Amino acid sequence: MDWERLLRRELDPLVPYAPGLRASEVRERIGGGVVHKLSSNENPRGPVPLAVAAMREVLPRLNIYPDGAAKALKRSLASHLSTDERFIAVGNGSNELLRIIAQAVLSPGDECVFAWPSFVVYPMVTQLMGATAVKVPLTDGEVHDLDAMASAVTPRTKLLFVCNPNNPTGTIVRRAEFERFLNAIPEHVLVVVDEAYHEYVDDPDYPDTLSLFDGVRPLVILRTFSKIYSLAGLRVGYGVAPEPLIAAVNKVREPFNVNTVGQVAAYYSLQDVAEVRDRAEENARERSRLCAAFDRLGIEWFPSQANFVYIHTERPRELFEGLLKHGVIVRDFGTAPALRVGIGAPHDTDATIAAFEAEWSRLGNGR
Ligand SMILES: Cc1ncc(COP(=O)(O)O)c(C=O)c1O
Repeated sequence: MDWERLLRRELDPLVPYAPGLRASEVRERIGGGVVHKLSSNENPRGPVPLAVAAMREVLPRLNIYPDGAAKALKRSLASHLSTDERFIAVGNGSNELLRIIAQAVLSPGDECVFAWPSFVVYPMVTQLMGATAVKVPLTDGEVHDLDAMASAVTPRTKLLFVCNPNNPTGTIVRRAEFERFLNAIPEHVLVVVDEAYHEYVDDPDYPDTLSLFDGVRPLVILRTFSKIYSLAGLRVGYGVAPEPLIAAVNKVREPFNVNTVGQVAAYYSLQDVAEVRDRAEENARERSRLCAAFDRLGIEWFPSQANFVYIHTERPRELFEGLLKHGVIVRDFGTAPALRVGIGAPHDTDATIAAFEAEWSRLGNGR
């Protein structure tokens, strides 16, 4: 078989997504003990009790296909977001929605603009479609350079991603500059704002993208149940989008793309507003504690509105390995002189601070 002839050439530059190390792998490597998995921006608390009870209840009925239209979940999301359910799409994680949107919009030769570094899935879905990824470097402060992104738009640009807060840097773009930016983007470009960490944000200057959504302008807002709601293992994300795009998503997606357990868990997760607020508050407290420790150690970190903090280090690999010896798993980025440190429960922060205290000076202050 001539595989080269068979497989689409667009796949050549693609590299499969590399997930962070699993806790069990690290436990084996360091010979047991407590492992703090802070590499995938998960929430440490697990699904809310109402969701766990509802999931248990639905298990005996899994012989039945899911509701392909996810009606109850969409209705609940519409009420939660004060919008109309006809503007809502749900996906097998917001990851799937990123791919479906790319499949619905991009053809070879089209351009897709996004900041860099940002979420690794943006270049993946762009390349998958044979389109051109236009990566716009973050500013020195590791923030989206919205002016440069607007300037990068050409007549060939079809799609533009804004990751807010940005993964991996945790930084946000602010309301006034975002609104100015949005007004400067020509109508032929679909702007997708990825707000996977939205519920963690406490900065009053964070853009209220839903208030900018009018059902007409080409704007999509993506969110997920994987982060603050702790449903990463179930894969449920959602988007708010104009109806023509929703119709396109429905053509591209699998008929039953969100499983029954996921739909039920997401539905009930939305009801526990107090728990979500509590998680966000705890995350903010732990984030401050971690950043104060970074200050004490002289580590350069960037203001984060998410459940992780981005730091600079000249020796990312050694620091990553050093922290691993203490059971602390963070995220490294190959050659980039940086690490992303997740925020977990208070005991995770204690362990992270202790591990940094031990490893940072051992490595000559990370340099
Ligand atoms: C910025 C961003 N967008 C989207 C996702 C995808 O989330 P999920 O597919 O689990 O909903 C992630 C996950 O890490 C992310 O960081």
